[in-house]
Amino acid sequence: MSVISATMLSQLDRVFTETFKAKPSRHFQAPGRVNLIGEHTDYNDGFVLPCAINYQTLVAVTPRDDMTVKVVAVDYHNQQDEFALDGEIETHPSQMWSNYVRGVIKHLQLSGHVFKGANLAITGNVPQGAGLSSSASLEVAIGETFRGLYSLALTKPEVALNGQAAENQFVGCQCGIMDQMVSACGSKQNALLLDCRSLETELISMPEGLAVMIINSNVKRGLVDSEYNTRRLQCEEAAQILGIKALRDISLLELQNHKDKLSELVYKRAHHVVSDSERTVLASDALKANNVALLSKLMAESHISMRDDFEITVPPIDFAVQLLSEYLGEKGGVRMTGGGFGGCMVALMPHDMVQGAEQLLAERYEAATGYQETTYICSASDGAGEF
Ligand code: GLA
Repeated sequence: MSVISATMLSQLDRVFTETFKAKPSRHFQAPGRVNLIGEHTDYNDGFVLPCAINYQTLVAVTPRDDMTVKVVAVDYHNQQDEFALDGEIETHPSQMWSNYVRGVIKHLQLSGHVFKGANLAITGNVPQGAGLSSSASLEVAIGETFRGLYSLALTKPEVALNGQAAENQFVGCQCGIMDQMVSACGSKQNALLLDCRSLETELISMPEGLAVMIINSNVKRGLVDSEYNTRRLQCEEAAQILGIKALRDISLLELQNHKDKLSELVYKRAHHVVSDSERTVLASDALKANNVALLSKLMAESHISMRDDFEITVPPIDFAVQLLSEYLGEKGGVRMTGGGFGGCMVALMPHDMVQGAEQLLAERYEAATGYQETTYICSASDGAGEF
């Protein structure tokens, strides 16, 4: 079920109509994501297990006959942007959101796609800066819009890769491929086991008895880009010293046997990545078998690994994860999700434990940490498409 409300849609259409003096002809959407397990494994060519969520970026559009793109951002006080397709597309000096749009369109052109301009209005309800991939959903939504509008010969994974290229090369963040892939290729009621080397995907059915709860710690994500890039470099250093292409190419056992080759810090980083990628494959089997006790254990181990080896969690999140894991026991699992340094946790639990979990957080989280949590119950959703 989509949580894009009638109000959101009508506001989008109203802003579009006011701005462009005509109604939009089509709508396209792309979802945010929550990662169930497998963190910082994507840029190491490993496995991830995310699902697309029912929070989306929504675009209203009409094609133009000229080579101009005009955009209005409903969620940024109707800020506007305008650029030409027949000149060099450059970064916008002040509007960060514009750069996702410009970058995606520029990279479509760089891959040889030919198309004319468009009028676009954008809105969305993916919480921003919370680690739920609002930016990937914007990149994929724009890619999907141009693909649909101009019948571009692009597969869904190519829409994802185009979004990642825009983010890496135009926006300047060295993210992996997970977020864009699941936003483009997600599937209702399924998680996506993604091999980040081959981009092969396997749909893993989400057990009906499990609710997916996202808990936003509301800890503002600080130092994200610099810490993210540092982790990436440390992983690359490990792979280089071990003489492999990526950490994907070593098992946990082999890594342990080569421990003395790496500094203590780099070993810990590699240990997280290799073990979390292995846990991801095990977790997808556990989901298939509806083995919640095993899932619970793997999610707990994943969190500890992010906390102690990769060092990307923050104390308020560690507190909430501990609190919920004691509450859930073997009936559910909980861990931080996303890039880290704040942001969200994901918890899987029987539907009848949701209320108790929310109550427990309300009673204890703010009192212990000074932050107030926000919770979302979401469902695994389809990837990008016409709305
Ligand atoms: C961010 C990046 C992803 C991935 C995660 C960590 O969301 O965009 O590519 O690396 O962090 O798993």
